[in-house]
Amino acid sequence: MPETYEGVATIEKVAALARRRAFVFPSSDIYGGLGSSYDYGHYGVLLKQNVKAEWQRALVQEREDIVLLDSAIILNPKVWVASGHLAGFSDPMVDCRTCKLRFRADDLENAQCGRKPSKHPGETPECDLTEAREFNLMFETYVGAMREDSSRAYLRPETAQGIFVNFKNVTSSMRVKPPFGIAQIGKSFRNEITPGNFLFRMREFEQMEMEFFVPPAEAQQWFEFWVEARRRWYVELGLRESHLRVRAHEADELSHYSSATSDLEYLFPIGWSELEGIANRGDYDLRAHAEHSGTKLEWIGQDERYVPHVVEPAAGADRAALAFMVDAYDEEVIEERPRTVLRLHPRIAPVKAAVLPLVGNDSALVERARALYEALRPHMAVEYDASAAIGKRYRRQDEIGTPWALTIDHQTLDDGTVTIRDRDSLAQERIPLEGAVELVRDRLPEPWSPRA
Ligand code: GAP
Repeated sequence: MPETYEGVATIEKVAALARRRAFVFPSSDIYGGLGSSYDYGHYGVLLKQNVKAEWQRALVQEREDIVLLDSAIILNPKVWVASGHLAGFSDPMVDCRTCKLRFRADDLENAQCGRKPSKHPGETPECDLTEAREFNLMFETYVGAMREDSSRAYLRPETAQGIFVNFKNVTSSMRVKPPFGIAQIGKSFRNEITPGNFLFRMREFEQMEMEFFVPPAEAQQWFEFWVEARRRWYVELGLRESHLRVRAHEADELSHYSSATSDLEYLFPIGWSELEGIANRGDYDLRAHAEHSGTKLEWIGQDERYVPHVVEPAAGADRAALAFMVDAYDEEVIEERPRTVLRLHPRIAPVKAAVLPLVGNDSALVERARALYEALRPHMAVEYDASAAIGKRYRRQDEIGTPWALTIDHQTLDDGTVTIRDRDSLAQERIPLEGAVELVRDRLPEPWSPRA
């Protein structure tokens, strides 16, 4: 496995393409943005939706032991007392007395003094750091009209707790029995001290989390199962295997709730970094909520009664979308003309096919192209474009990662064939217009299923 990233992508190039092609815009752009906050444009929404849909398909639709949940973002604040987040969800932080910036005490290597370099020779501005102190990452808010301690609440920093506090509701209303899982996709919020690297670390982001409740003796086996199942999911959706690795946490890295965690790491241009964490949370959460709420949270079978252990694959939808974009990003020169292309797996590409009349103002071509476009639309995300020179339209589709372009030209009128252009190989074949819908549908790869 490579130690360092050697591809053509950089976070800056991917962010520039994302902005130019309506994947992701800086948030509140006309007001100068808001630190590490982003808005998704049309293609970004489609891409992230596809990532989430593939996650849900693999975990819920393709299995019969995982059910869905969509819990509230603002929960009773006692949840965060019980979970340990109020006391322990913090990073050590230092302030600089010179430049007034705040840094993570455990990441000072990457800290940069915010003061402008001095014009006076020999005088180097350097940070004058305070002692480290703990900084809680939860965003606070107030529920109701009164701004007082008793109405203080928090935006959830993970979706997982909404699952634990619904354990009883789910087990008493759904036909589930350990081993079973509850899956949730939704926004989480963390007041990160050092957000950055585009979608990698934001203060508002989306998580895809699944809590898998198992008999205690099976926890290790399910932990290993989910580490591999989640690794495979990324590979099946196109991430190059050599840029993915599993790294087990050292004892001093473990979160307050975890007895074992493995990170799936991806080789981003910034180096190997966490893409998803798979944790063995033991019975920590169910026991803590049972104790704080006074409600028994256990599995009661015919002859048994126990507190299940929890194996948790916790992924980030934005971070996964970033990894897919980085992995897919490529630049090449074709016949002396540079092109940028996103070689996204067809299942997550925002648009699957583009239909292009060779000449945009030839009514016979436009008519055939519109008819093909209408025929494809019920089956997949497809775009019609008659706007510019054909080369320019191909480049645009390459940059948004559309796997196939179907072009209607004058030969179509003579013999009823169209060209299908492959985004990656650039091969063009002529295929019968009749049957083109089926052909494109057949080329879309089947989904992969992680059955036990
Ligand atoms: N419930 C466990 C949990 O939340 P985590 O490792 O803190 O674990 C899981 O978060 C995943 O959520 C991460 O692997 C990452 O993909 C995503 N994530 C966490 N913090 C993030 C942030 N500030 N910005 C974007 N994604 C983030």
